Amino acid sequence: MNILLLGSGGREHAIAWKIAQSPSLERLFIAPGNAGTAATGTNLPVSPNDFPAVKQACLEYRVDMLVVGPEEPLVRGIHDFFLADPEIRHIPVIGPTKEGARLEGSKDFAKEFMTRHGIPTATYRTFTKASLAVGIRFLDTCSPPLVLKADGLAAGKGVMICRTREEAAAELTAMLDGARFGEASSKVVIEQFLEGIELSAFIITDGLTYRILPEAKDYKKIGEGDTGPNTGGMGSVSPVPFARGPFLEKVEQRVIIPTMEGLKAEGIRYRGFIFFGLMNVQGDPYVIEYNCRLGDPETESVLPRIRNDFVALLKSAADGTLDRITLETDPVTYASVMLVSAGYPDKYEKGKRISGLDRAAGSLLFHAGTAFDSEGQVITSGGRVISVTSPGADLNEALGLSYANAPVITFDGKYYRSDIGFDL
Ligand code: AMP
Ligand code: GLY
Repeated sequence: MNILLLGSGGREHAIAWKIAQSPSLERLFIAPGNAGTAATGTNLPVSPNDFPAVKQACLEYRVDMLVVGPEEPLVRGIHDFFLADPEIRHIPVIGPTKEGARLEGSKDFAKEFMTRHGIPTATYRTFTKASLAVGIRFLDTCSPPLVLKADGLAAGKGVMICRTREEAAAELTAMLDGARFGEASSKVVIEQFLEGIELSAFIITDGLTYRILPEAKDYKKIGEGDTGPNTGGMGSVSPVPFARGPFLEKVEQRVIIPTMEGLKAEGIRYRGFIFFGLMNVQGDPYVIEYNCRLGDPETESVLPRIRNDFVALLKSAADGTLDRITLETDPVTYASVMLVSAGYPDKYEKGKRISGLDRAAGSLLFHAGTAFDSEGQVITSGGRVISVTSPGADLNEALGLSYANAPVITFDGKYYRSDIGFDL
């Protein structure tokens, strides 16, 4: 079959790499892709948010399945767009409809959903510009730290952790009154800060049943020891030792099953991935957030551990036959270290030549922000540039290989964290 994958990050390179191994694949297209995905299929200069152009590509290349990597096209309704068009209605879309994508697209919706279905999450209240004064008074009844979240998509920047009530009041005002995140902060969720250790759990679902994918931990902060501003993610590891056994059992019973039942009860037929951002609070899981897609850079460490034919897995999610699939995971550990551009997550330069890509023996290199220059050389084109992903019998071995290969790949201004996995 022919598959079109939307997106251009490390997650999409990992998905493309995995899809490309399937015996049932004829042609893989990636829109827009990067220099790494170009080695797994054909990149198309199409924006994932330009639905008519995605449709054209599907017709032109006889696409049999659309796989959506990032959240934005899902939240904007690409699945619904396909369902509503007789020319492309027959093409299955991996990723939820607009309604299901609200789990990520609206923090307020996600919190209400969790409340309705008894899913453990931090206590919260939601405010709008009209109720700003009530919100400020509400802050007086809370004990900091507090977490303020813009309701809508804000490119991963819409969450503020406030250490004092004054800080929270100023932030709430900036978000609601000052439209700090535009339309995304026209509603703000205020929630209790949860103390614990985070991890990411994933399922694939056909809307009827689900399979739990390997869990992962990502490292969001730019600085070592988890300091400094948040990034898209500086590295990841899978498996996560503390998440095994009884904790995972609690995640399934308290979070995954009630989420699936909730979606069914609300008539939301969800086909695709659900990413549960979890906090382990003294052995009990709480949902920090839902995402309607796989995580980045978690995917880079998760997908290499899945032994199944990935196209067959995706197809079963599309067809409603996931109950026939047994997910087979590799007990090996994978660790991903992200090489990033100088200055990231603030301003950074692009267009730096990358060398050493053929010398990282034993590691997988998933491209996150790369492109070709006019001479066909691989250059940087984003903040996150390349994930150095390595296997090992344990975490130390996997990290050891990634850290042996990280210096081999060079580009002007390269930076990476040298302490991924430090807390495990
Ligand atoms: P989100 O965009 O919802 O993933 O939030 C970004 C980050 O903020 C999370 O990865 C957590 O590190 C942190 N965070 C969000 N909500 C909470 C919470 N209730 N308690 C503690 N940390 C939180
Ligand atoms: N790594 C977190 C995310 O993909 O949102």
